[in-house]
Amino acid sequence: MMDWKEIQVLFYLSTLSLSVVADVTIQPLNDQRVNKGDTVVLDCVLQNIGNPNDVLLFWYHDGKAVAVNTRLAVDNPNYQLDTSVAGHWKLTIQQAQIEDQGTWQCRVQLPNDVFQEMALVVLAPPVIMSVTPDMSPMPGSTVTLWCNATGSPEPSVTWTRQRPAGHLPSGVEYVTGNPLVLNDITNDWRGLYQCFVTNGIGQGAVTAPVFLQMEYFPVVKAKSGLVAAPIGNSAHLRCICESFPAVRSIDNVKWFKNDRLVDVNDGYQMSVELDLEMDPYRETSVATLIVTSVTTESLGTYTCRFNNILGSAEANMKLEEGKQIDPDTGASRSMASTLKFAMATSMATVAVAKILMK
Ligand SMILES: *[C@@H]1O[C@H](CO)[C@@H](O)[C@H](O)[C@H]1NC(C)=O
Repeated sequence: MMDWKEIQVLFYLSTLSLSVVADVTIQPLNDQRVNKGDTVVLDCVLQNIGNPNDVLLFWYHDGKAVAVNTRLAVDNPNYQLDTSVAGHWKLTIQQAQIEDQGTWQCRVQLPNDVFQEMALVVLAPPVIMSVTPDMSPMPGSTVTLWCNATGSPEPSVTWTRQRPAGHLPSGVEYVTGNPLVLNDITNDWRGLYQCFVTNGIGQGAVTAPVFLQMEYFPVVKAKSGLVAAPIGNSAHLRCICESFPAVRSIDNVKWFKNDRLVDVNDGYQMSVELDLEMDPYRETSVATLIVTSVTTESLGTYTCRFNNILGSAEANMKLEEGKQIDPDTGASRSMASTLKFAMATSMATVAVAKILMK
């Protein structure tokens, strides 16, 4: 870098070289589009400037002096000046960054300034730098979701919601803009939001999630509306509940058979657990009622009812006698097939042993 005194001295010297018709050309002159990380060489070709030591040469970037004669005026390790070839005053930008784009100007300060300029565009795929963290907003509040990204050209940001429905609560699938502002929200606005950031450079869109967790009533469905099991076998009835706060305790689940409360003393087992595999956001729980041994009395319509602090919801399913039709719930069938497999393997082992003994 050079200090102001040096510049003054140089300026004084430059005023000595009068009446020359100077000429300055940047090569390449045409505006350049390069990819981020490329090397860019800006060559300023000087003609008729007299003794180059007697003039002030400047490289300007967007109006800011980057180089003066043989010195860089900014502290950027990616910039290199090469003045070794007479008449060429080269500025090399190693690993061009988005910040390097803009207008580059080569200027010779004689009594009259002579300059030429060109535009540099640095293309870069979008990169998401920061996203609003997951939050639990209050009903009625305003939520502002940011998805801040870099990229060149300036990326566009599109928002959608993936859960609990594949669209925004207003019904539209996508909204473009950053930030996404949600006014006067209700718990219908909860869920998993996603920003998609694109600028036409690189491999499609980059995305990031933001989760809005809000209290809501349970939403319940039966895993299977019809469960069948042979008399004497066990049957598994399952209900899936989405709610927040999530239902985690068996105290918040009740089972009814033909509208009468099911009692564990009547040969039933009950459990409830969060389904973290299906739902990493811990809103989904699965309740299971095991009829340990199906009898004609245990056939009928079953209801599961979940409640959280806001209220309750329920779902129905039927238990019928028959071939086990829900393989997921068929403990007896999977045991039978495991047994068959075990027998087949042990018979094969015997056969192999026999061959080896011969
Ligand atoms: C995103 O950028 C805006 C505007 O610069 C800023 O106000 C906001 O805090 C940023 N958000 C995040 C999550 O970084």
